[in-house]
Amino acid sequence: MPLLATRTLSKNFGGLKAVDGLDLVLEEGQILGVIGPNGAGKTTLFSLIAGSIPPSSGEVLLDGTRVNGQQAYRMVRAGVVRTHQIVRPFPNLTVLENVMVGAIHARGRATGAARDRAEEVIGFVGLGDRTHSLPGTLTLAGRKRLELARALATAPRVLMLDEVIAGLNPSEAQGLAVLIRRIRDERSVSVIMIEHVMPAVMSLSDRVLVLDQGRKIAEGTPLEVVNDPAVVVAYLGENHGGATA
Ligand SMILES: Nc1ncnc2c1ncn2[C@@H]1O[C@H](COP(=O)(O)OP(=O)(O)OP(=O)(O)O)[C@@H](O)[C@H]1O
Ligand SMILES: [Mg+2]
Repeated sequence: MPLLATRTLSKNFGGLKAVDGLDLVLEEGQILGVIGPNGAGKTTLFSLIAGSIPPSSGEVLLDGTRVNGQQAYRMVRAGVVRTHQIVRPFPNLTVLENVMVGAIHARGRATGAARDRAEEVIGFVGLGDRTHSLPGTLTLAGRKRLELARALATAPRVLMLDEVIAGLNPSEAQGLAVLIRRIRDERSVSVIMIEHVMPAVMSLSDRVLVLDQGRKIAEGTPLEVVNDPAVVVAYLGENHGGATA
């Protein structure tokens, strides 16, 4: 049984089918890449799985149990957490405090336990020397690491990453890619990652799902997907604002 799955999951915004009958499977221990042009429905898919918005129809299954309709905090407690495409840490809280908030909220840990957990996670993501800094003093790559730490502090089983690598320079991108792999390998966290940076998503993912206009147009190993004619059309077709890779 897959760790996480969706069945004919759909979300309409008025007449727009943002996510349209989507079947997704995440096996335990895997990294699943989600790619697709701007507006394909990728972030909406995460919001549906995370419980931030209710689906119009279809199901989200965790360990085979239907969980859609659950509120976001319940999904976090069940072990499903996401990062945000635009990171918004609390600007007046330190790195440590930002991460502790996540741990306390999600798991109801006492302050001392939350602090220990937060410090450990901050070290893991490579921000150990910035523990008492304010988020505004971090580089974008640093803020992305902070976003990862906040998510990891909730002790997830499924981590959904929304464009963690996009916007970083090549060496920062490489550092984040290494960290994502370590999250899977060393923390036993299964990962779904939305990413426009093709080399990163292709090298990290066990499987890749391609969305276009809310629908799955291809799925398979990275090699299968890049050789799929439908993918080439979606990325280069005239109806989309050009390639996004
Ligand atoms: N709350 C909302 N209300 C109305 N329309 C929405 C809402 N959220 C998203 N949409 C629309 O749904 C579609 C899918 O948006 P979504 O943000 O999921 O795309 P995406 O694949 O994440 O794109 P990007 O690569 O630019 O981040 C878009 O047409 C978007 O304008
Ligand atoms: Mg998005």
